[in-house]
Amino acid sequence: MLQPALTAAPMVEASDVRYHFVARRNLWRPASTVRAVDGVSFAIPAGRTFGIVGESGCGKSTLASLLIGDRLTQQGSIRIDGRTVEEHLAQGRKAYARTIQMVAQDPFGTMDPRQKVGPQIDETIAIHFPMSRAARRERTVRMLRSVGLAESVYTKMPHQISGGQRQRVAIARALVVEPKVLICDEPTSALDVSIQAQVLNLLLRLQAEFGLTIILISHDIRVVGHMSHEIGVMSAGIMVEQGPTRQVIKQPRNAYSRALFDAAPGAGRLMRGAAEAAGVVGEG
Ligand SMILES: Nc1ncnc2c1ncn2[C@@H]1O[C@H](COP(=O)(O)OP(=O)(O)OP(=O)(O)O)[C@@H](O)[C@H]1O
Ligand SMILES: [Mg+2]
Repeated sequence: MLQPALTAAPMVEASDVRYHFVARRNLWRPASTVRAVDGVSFAIPAGRTFGIVGESGCGKSTLASLLIGDRLTQQGSIRIDGRTVEEHLAQGRKAYARTIQMVAQDPFGTMDPRQKVGPQIDETIAIHFPMSRAARRERTVRMLRSVGLAESVYTKMPHQISGGQRQRVAIARALVVEPKVLICDEPTSALDVSIQAQVLNLLLRLQAEFGLTIILISHDIRVVGHMSHEIGVMSAGIMVEQGPTRQVIKQPRNAYSRALFDAAPGAGRLMRGAAEAAGVVGEG
């Protein structure tokens, strides 16, 4: 008999996805193409974390924008929860936002600097769920607590809270609509090391609590290794290697991945120490 894990369709499936930027030609410059995402394929089962790692400019955020539907793939397809991004978008952005959410690379940039933190989350709730003002506020406060923030954060302005707190607020705002998939683009690169670990452990806990499928994007192999069941290594728009985290980090087959891991001392240690303790990475 087939195991359920083998018969279940993946929550996220990208096949041969491509996105090229074309810089227009002008008097001084010939037309040029940046192959930001160039034939990327991967599949993520529900409730698992897929880490995408690679140096600055390799196409990670462009890939994220394709998954979230801000850009449309120029070739290939992305299926989330059984439907292509285009099919989701045809049902409306609002419905798609209930399927997939993203915590952007710069959470400050996605907040209204002139509005208190809590009411911004209330507004997100109002878009998706019909409920009273009081009920919205209660839900926001509950979500703030579940990401480890005090209720007092509700009435703070974005500039009055720390980077780590802002990152948590961004996570709270993404999760308040109960998405199935969460993309985190460099969730901790702006944070110092101790806060980094807190935010990452928070994501692990929220995944266990909500059954989230997580796509974790970082240039830092230690972050991705700590968190991910499987990882993909990107270089110049191509996923040069992918597989179970332990296997890829311990026995990288690709020269680029080897160089990336060699440049990050302690990557293996972090992966083994923390991820196994959390039951994320099995013995292999
Ligand atoms: N709007 C755009 N127009 C033209 N080129 C772009 C645009 N956005 C990104 N690019 C180019 O596409 C490539 C991939 O960029 P992307 O932002 O996806 O990289 P990244 O892996 O997220 O980098 P980082 O780690 O610095 O965030 C880069 O060469 C970048 O210069
Ligand atoms: Mg980026």
